[in-house]
Amino acid sequence: PDNAHSVDYVLSIDQGTTSTRAIIFDHAGTVVATGQLEHDQIFPQAGWVEHDATQIWDNVREVIGLALAKASLTRHNIAAIGITNQRETAVVWNKHTGKPIYNAIVWQDTRTQAIANRLAGEEGVTRFSKTVGLPLATYFSGTKIVWMLENVEGARELANNGDLLFGTTDTWVLWNLTGGVDGGVHVTDVTNASRTLFMDLKTLDWSDEILAEFGVPRSMLPEIKSSSEVYGYAHSSSLLREVPVAGILGDQQAATFGQAAFEAGEAKNTYGTGNFLIVNTGEEIVHSTNGLLTTVAYQLAGEPPRYALEGSIAVTGSLIQWLRDNVGMISSSAEVEDLAATVPNNGGAYFVPAFSGLFAPHWRPDARGALVGLTRFVNKGHIARAALESTAYQTTEVLDAVNADSKVPLTALKVDGGMTANSTLMQFQADMLGVPVVRPVVAETTALGAAYAAGLAVGFWSGLDELRGNWQEDRRWEPSLDRAERDRLYRNWKKAVTKTLNWVD
Ligand code: G3P
Repeated sequence: PDNAHSVDYVLSIDQGTTSTRAIIFDHAGTVVATGQLEHDQIFPQAGWVEHDATQIWDNVREVIGLALAKASLTRHNIAAIGITNQRETAVVWNKHTGKPIYNAIVWQDTRTQAIANRLAGEEGVTRFSKTVGLPLATYFSGTKIVWMLENVEGARELANNGDLLFGTTDTWVLWNLTGGVDGGVHVTDVTNASRTLFMDLKTLDWSDEILAEFGVPRSMLPEIKSSSEVYGYAHSSSLLREVPVAGILGDQQAATFGQAAFEAGEAKNTYGTGNFLIVNTGEEIVHSTNGLLTTVAYQLAGEPPRYALEGSIAVTGSLIQWLRDNVGMISSSAEVEDLAATVPNNGGAYFVPAFSGLFAPHWRPDARGALVGLTRFVNKGHIARAALESTAYQTTEVLDAVNADSKVPLTALKVDGGMTANSTLMQFQADMLGVPVVRPVVAETTALGAAYAAGLAVGFWSGLDELRGNWQEDRRWEPSLDRAERDRLYRNWKKAVTKTLNWVD
């Protein structure tokens, strides 16, 4: 087909925790083609998780080619590029060579616990919460940067000389895509900046006071921009040469945007390697008293930011990968559903996957995973079932926190992400929550959200109303489990959680 002159598509790069994808969307928000490549998960020791940032950038270039080839399109057909990313994962590189000084330290990595404790000092983990919306935890990029400056030989000096750049993977991809050492743009968006521990939620600028406490020079940090504007153009070395890069959103915020949850009170829950429930709080900065984070939902150019409350769960989908890769209990992730279906219930087993400690709503770095309630009766099917159920229980805890923080309880939950293909889990989720769970037709909401942000910036889409019109319900699960049984299961889950605490001292 001669597509040479129809600029009818937006390309989204989704740099996720386990893979990198390029997805091409048309005007209706429908997926036209996808290119996808996984990258290595590097576990040098217990609690450490790394990625090779160079491999990630190579994959970005390759998946762009794959997606364009599948759709028989070229750069001339692409109106704009959007970037979305695993958040918090920290890359530090030398701006003269373009080479990372160390592997990227992934959001799941817990090596920086001592740094977080040191910074918390007498005042405790909430020391900077009023300003940045986050507790001092290993999860966020800030402590990871400090670790590199303190542990990579020569890093501190290079940083002080202004030779090093930091970025979450959005920034790493953008810098490389726009030319790298040949004029790469060093920028991030407000949503990613809100995950560092350094950005003041009110001013949307780096806090000099906090940077001084962390000992991180401002010269390393990218400029913070809105989520939807032209940041730069793909470099001449790219297949997408001269196409504007015009949208950036952290993946969970992108999914919120892709779900068209633009207004206060709207929410979504994404089932990925972890689960992330985000509730839009509009122009208001709401501080949680129940273990939720305060973060930026999105900002359109020239508009005030929209804020959100977030319940982050570290391990959901990655527990299924762990059963596959570390235990060998299944040979593909999809198999877990069949295995779980061999039994009518969990047989009394509960699996609390506190592999990175417990995130929301507990924030307990001292927790480690536990499989409890075991008897001779329990078999593989029960364990598979307990693993799946853990996702639903953890989400229920987060929703409880959301309802406790807000005056208006959620009446339905929009969901997306890989595990929403699992109908048994979605039914169980609705049963545990006691409200309907609703999945849209386009399940690729993360990539779609970044495409929307980019498309809006270049006039490919006219505004939020048009995007709202693209949202369509695909399937809905209604709660049906008997209340007493639901309460019994949830009570046991909470008991199981107590067994994981105080493990690391
Ligand atoms: O905060 C971590 C989150 O952004 C990772 O998302 O989908 O890559 O697991 P995902």
